[in-house]
Amino acid sequence: MTAENDDNSDITLRLMDLGDIDDFMVWATDDKVSQFCTWKTCTSKEEAMTYMINSVIPHPWMRAICLKNRAIGYIMLTAFEGNDACRCEVGYVLASKYWGKGIATRALKMVASTVFCEWTHLERLDAWVDQDNLGSQRVLVKAGFQKEGVLRKYMLIKGKPRDMVVFSLLSTDPHVN
Ligand SMILES: CC(C)(COP(=O)(O)OP(=O)(O)OC[C@H]1O[C@@H](n2cnc3c(N)ncnc32)[C@H](O)[C@@H]1OP(=O)(O)O)[C@@H](O)C(=O)NCCC(=O)NCCS
Repeated sequence: MTAENDDNSDITLRLMDLGDIDDFMVWATDDKVSQFCTWKTCTSKEEAMTYMINSVIPHPWMRAICLKNRAIGYIMLTAFEGNDACRCEVGYVLASKYWGKGIATRALKMVASTVFCEWTHLERLDAWVDQDNLGSQRVLVKAGFQKEGVLRKYMLIKGKPRDMVVFSLLSTDPHVN
């Protein structure tokens, strides 16, 4: 079991800005963090700045996961439109130094407990996780998501087709606090 002796009540979520660049670099330059993600590891501050300016700051819903107001990761929601508007996808990353303390689970529960109230049209949160990313699958289970199945060779990660496990949380599911 994760060391949840700390209750993680000092974990907060907030918008990210360029003042977070040094903290952002900590995980964005770490191959361990990007291994199961579609983005490629940043190799310079310039590259990280460009990524922040083009993808992070304009993102419609992306929040820094903060410990004592320092960004140690992020959580984001990607909304779908048209006939898919009833659902959105959740994704998250955390700097590797903080893994195994229940922090991602805490952040996910915070988002899951508010998003259905704020976005009343939303019926479901989706998450797609690389089949080998067992830590992330465990986070989803701990936050009350249900595993629905495996999409075979569904997504290219680092150029390779990967089997992805689909998880969901419905607005009507029991929510884990
Ligand atoms: C996935 C990630 C967000 C998890 O963050 P975290 O704060 O360490 O997660 P938590 O501590 O809340 O929970 C992790 C759980 O996974 C378990 N776990 C971790 N690695 C595991 C592994 N290789 N096999 C099985 N279980 C594993 C932990 O033991 C813990 O479960 P427990 O509480 O039952 O012991 C973090 O590892 C990360 O940022 N990874 C890189 C980015 C990423 O993969 N993002 C998700 C993309 S879908």
